[in-house]
Amino acid sequence: MRDQTITQPPSGSEARALEYIIALIYERCRIQLHLGKQQLIRSRLGKRMRHHGMQSLAEYCRFLQERADEEEFTHVVDALTTNYTNFLREEDHFRFMVEKALPAVLPPGRRSFRVWSAACATGEEPYSIAFYLAEHFPLAQGWDWRILATDISTRALAAAGAGVYPLDRATGVPHDWLKRYCQRGVGEFEGQFRIKPAIAERVAFQQVNLLGQYSFSNPFDLIFCRNVMIYFDRPTQEQLVNSLARCLVSGGCLLVGHSESLNGLSVPFRCDRPSIYRKN
Ligand SMILES: C[S@@+](CC[C@H](N)C(=O)[O-])C[C@H]1O[C@@H](n2cnc3c(N)ncnc32)[C@H](O)[C@@H]1O
Repeated sequence: MRDQTITQPPSGSEARALEYIIALIYERCRIQLHLGKQQLIRSRLGKRMRHHGMQSLAEYCRFLQERADEEEFTHVVDALTTNYTNFLREEDHFRFMVEKALPAVLPPGRRSFRVWSAACATGEEPYSIAFYLAEHFPLAQGWDWRILATDISTRALAAAGAGVYPLDRATGVPHDWLKRYCQRGVGEFEGQFRIKPAIAERVAFQQVNLLGQYSFSNPFDLIFCRNVMIYFDRPTQEQLVNSLARCLVSGGCLLVGHSESLNGLSVPFRCDRPSIYRKN
């Protein structure tokens, strides 16, 4: 008997539809999906197809090509970008931030600084930064820090801005931090927690396509850009890292994901330790 889970090769029009979606995602996000991901592409776009009452990917692609508006393309990007993240993910980076990166870059007497969480997904990364900063640079002692958190996905940003998570997402966050910086939900929010306003208001969310044009009024003192470069090809990574460098102070650190590296890229950074780079 045939195993129902084995992926069937796509028919002619379905194959063309897949190629179109793959090219679209590459053009918009420089994320290289492969034909082998056809099952994932189909299931992630299934909701949009059902929403429009469409039966096949080919029909949905014709709709995209002929009459869809920009909002529909946002849904496609949202559906196909991977938003996996977690609180205190790759935690050594947060310790490095408070113990080494920020003390090295802040001149004596300066008590305000800004951190950018680029590709922040659903917000766990910028809120983890905020927990660490609140512990080590207390606002009550006159520190004034802000975090800009950006992503291409409007769906992820909406979740991030709400700052409400299921309780099981907090595994690994120290109990006393949860008490200090989060609130347990009651009533309709039973089983969830939210980030307390005093912390949440330090984080601003904004949609930024890292491969587009962006500039900020002042350079950041530290940039997290983790677990997103891995989706891009090397020339795109080089372009991205050079753009990030323009948004960072001299001597500032760029933190990339543990499985990412700037090795071999022509960029103005030197490696401090794996996944941690300092701008020349
Ligand atoms: C795997 S998550 C990483 C989240 C977080 N930085 C972490 O390490 O846990 C990757 C994020 O990159 C975002 N992303 C993908 N392409 C992007 C682009 N071109 N510009 C900005 N964000 C992008 C996705 O929407 C997703 O939220």
